[in-house]
Amino acid sequence: MIAEIEIERIVAEYLERRREWEPLLPRRRTGYTRTRLTACDAYEVLALFWFPGALTPIHDHGESYCATRVVAGELHVARYERTEEAGTIAMRLVERCIQHAGEGDALQSAREIHSVANPGSREALSLHVYAPRFTTFGIYDESGARLSLAPSRYDAILG
Ligand SMILES: [Fe+2]
Repeated sequence: MIAEIEIERIVAEYLERRREWEPLLPRRRTGYTRTRLTACDAYEVLALFWFPGALTPIHDHGESYCATRVVAGELHVARYERTEEAGTIAMRLVERCIQHAGEGDALQSAREIHSVANPGSREALSLHVYAPRFTTFGIYDESGARLSLAPSRYDAILG
């Protein structure tokens, strides 16, 4: 696991290089689009383009640390804490918030899960660092029941 300070440095680097990668992002006119900007064993950096109305299910990030930063527009985030011990599932809504450019989150473990949406009328853009990379992630309902395990897919790979 790379240090949090290192993740901040990575986010700052890709914010600074925004003009290089932003014009290359696919911008589907529905939902959200995931583009990988770079990847190594320790982490990967994704740019997500959110068309108005885009909405993720409640999801984890495998066992990975997840740092997010809104670059443009605003995102509505619901954060949950989920535990499963001896077959008993507990799910708690930790926070609902609206994140603007410059704001973000850090989810530190598989217990911390979230859903993200862009319900406004403007497009939004965000950076995501996952450490280490993950290949599958869980999708949940509001009771904490795991509905499925989905593969992590990219709409484009730039690095
Ligand atoms: Fe996420």
